[in-house]
Amino acid sequence: MGEDNRMKDTIRVAVTGAAGNIGYALLWRIASGDCFGANQPVTLQLLEIPSGMQRLEGVIMELKDSAFPLVDGIVGTDDPAIAFKDTDAIFLVGSRPRSKDMDRADLVAANGPIFVGQGQAIDAAASPNVKVITVGNPCNTNALIACANAPSIPSRQFTAMTRLDQNRAVGQMAERAGIPASKIQDVFIWGNHSNTMYPDPRFATVDGQKATDVFDLGWLQGDFLGTVATRGKAIIEARGASSAASAASAAVDHMRDWWQGSNGRIVSMALPSEGWYGVPEGLVFSFPCRCENGEIEVLDNLAVDAFAQSKIDENIAALMEERAAVSELLGD
Ligand code: NAD
Ligand code: LMR
Repeated sequence: MGEDNRMKDTIRVAVTGAAGNIGYALLWRIASGDCFGANQPVTLQLLEIPSGMQRLEGVIMELKDSAFPLVDGIVGTDDPAIAFKDTDAIFLVGSRPRSKDMDRADLVAANGPIFVGQGQAIDAAASPNVKVITVGNPCNTNALIACANAPSIPSRQFTAMTRLDQNRAVGQMAERAGIPASKIQDVFIWGNHSNTMYPDPRFATVDGQKATDVFDLGWLQGDFLGTVATRGKAIIEARGASSAASAASAAVDHMRDWWQGSNGRIVSMALPSEGWYGVPEGLVFSFPCRCENGEIEVLDNLAVDAFAQSKIDENIAALMEERAAVSELLGD
C-alpha cells in the first residue's frame, strides 16, 4: 500500500518561550513539516511573558513572512490558558538558561515555579491526549512539576528531553570512527539531563558493528562519557550562550519520533518512571525507548552491568535530591 499523502486535520502546537533562542530555531522546523509530517497542518500557539511579547510580535511577523503552506494560524499570547487551549503537542521551552558558573540544577529555584502554573493550565485547557516535551532546565524535574500539577493528564504524556545528549553521543562516536552520524544506532541516555547522565554504548552499533568492539572501554567510560555529560557547559563557554539550534533540532527529533514512530530504533526519552530498572515511581528519568503509533514503549528488560547500575543509582540519587528540593511545588 502506498503512503497516504492527503492533508490531515489541523493540529494545535504550543511553544513556550517562543521569542527565545531555542524558539527562534524550533518554530521554523515545526512550521516546515519536519516534526509532524509534510501533510500535517498546524496552528502555532506561542506563549511568552509580558516582557517578551514585543519580541514575540517580531517572530510572528517573520513566521508570516515565511509563508509556510502547513501553517494554518498563529496565536501569540502571554496567557497560558490561551496558549494551551486544545493543544495536541506542547514544547515547554520558556525558562531561564544557566550562565557559566551554574549547574543545570541551580536553575530549579528560578524555573521550577513556572511549571506549576503551566502544568495547571495544561490540565485545564489541553487536549486529553496532548504530548508534552519539557526542554527548559532542569528539564527532568520541571517535567515532574508540570506532570504533578496536571492530574487529569496521564503521566506518560509528560516527557523531558535527553535527545540532545543522545545526539551528542552519536556525534562523538561518528567523529571518532570517521563515519557519518547516520551509521551510528541505538546509543541512548540513562537518567538526568545533568552531569550524572550515562550515555550507554553497550547496545549501540557503528556501521553494523558493536560499538563496544569498535571503541575501547577506556574511551567509552572516560572521554566519551565526560564529553557528552558536560557538552552543555562547553557550548556555553565557547558560544557565550546556551545551545539553541542543536537543542531545537533534538526537540524536533524527540517529538517527531513520538508522533510518527522511531522505526524500531532505540531513542532516549525521560518520562515518569513506573518502576522500570528499580527507578522510584514518578521520577522523570531517561530510559531506552521505542515509539510506535504515538505511544512510548520503555525497553524494560535490557541487561544492566555493574557500571551501568552504578550510573543508574547515581542518577536516581541526583533526581531524588532535585525532587526533595521542589516538594512544595508538587501539590502533595
Ligand atoms: P532564552 O533566554 O533565549 O529564551 C527563553 C525565553 O523564555 C525568553 O524569551 C523568555 O522571555 C521566555 N520565558 C521565560 N519565562 C517564561 C514563562 N514563564 N512562560 C513563557 N515564556 C517564558 O533561552 P533558550 O536558550 O531558549 O533556553 C530555554 C531553556 O532551555 C533554558 O532553561 C535552557 O537551559 C534550556 N535548554 C535545555 C536543553 C535540554 O537539552 N534539555 C538544551 C538547551 C537549552
Ligand atoms: C545543554 O545541554 O546544552 C543545555 O541543557 C544547556 C545547559 O545549561 O547545559
